[in-house]
Amino acid sequence: MKADLNRYEDPWTAEVYDFEHEGNARTADVPLWLALAEEAGGPVLELACGTARVTIPLARPGREVTGLDMSPNMLAIARRKLDQEGRDVRARIRLVEGDMRDFSLDQRFPLIIIPFSAFQVLLEREDQRRCLECCARHLKPGGRLAIDVFHPKLSRLTAEGAVEEGPDEFPGPDGVTVRWSGHTDYDIANQRLRSRCRYERTASGGETTVSEHMLELHYFFRFEMEWMLEACGFHVEALYGNFDRNEFAADSPEMIFVARKPDA
Ligand SMILES: C[S@@+](CC[C@H](N)C(=O)[O-])C[C@H]1O[C@@H](n2cnc3c(N)ncnc32)[C@H](O)[C@@H]1O
Repeated sequence: MKADLNRYEDPWTAEVYDFEHEGNARTADVPLWLALAEEAGGPVLELACGTARVTIPLARPGREVTGLDMSPNMLAIARRKLDQEGRDVRARIRLVEGDMRDFSLDQRFPLIIIPFSAFQVLLEREDQRRCLECCARHLKPGGRLAIDVFHPKLSRLTAEGAVEEGPDEFPGPDGVTVRWSGHTDYDIANQRLRSRCRYERTASGGETTVSEHMLELHYFFRFEMEWMLEACGFHVEALYGNFDRNEFAADSPEMIFVARKPDA
């Protein structure tokens, strides 16, 4: 068992990813991305697309979508899911293995999206800046960049010691039952959290396997994101606090930034 295995480097956590997040409030985001794509009226680039959870629904209504992700395991699941789609949807989706901090595609887009906290895996300011610069290069003039990060809960940041997560149980692939628990440590000075998660999977025959994984994220505050986007040449058009596009407020669960690249 490798306790420090980053969760996106493990084939099994990629297998379980969609099962784990099914019905989660944070993944009720697809209608928002669909609406933004409709407003953009052209092809969409999704960075850190993972298992194509968002990519495939975006392509179904007739839109071209490019999904880029660094993890071959997550992309393998995405390709498997894509094989189950009709030929027209398959033809509209391009999956690219790449790093969102340093990529070069032969296309410019009216919309780039980074859903579900994926931007938060970029821990260093330099990583974040490089990603935003890549986005600016891949947007058409007047194009929009939309990024969803979670709104940090002050009660978690100020908790004494680690914050306990779960336990929770959900049905996984192949009839496996997954019991998940973990704890999260907050590093206030560096605005980072480190979650250690334990997965206990029990097969229908009763055999149990345990694995542990680590996920490290940067947590952002509102004005940090706004300054960073502006410093990279974007105009911040909107900040939504949830997927219904309500204005951001103190108790909002999300921070969804919509930023525009200037026309010229
Ligand atoms: C929370 S998942 C989000 C997946 C998908 N966007 C979704 O909403 O379900 C984060 C994804 O970021 C990917 N990732 C991590 N670092 C990356 C990088 N530097 N460039 C591209 N993808 C990266 C991981 O492989 C993983 O698929």
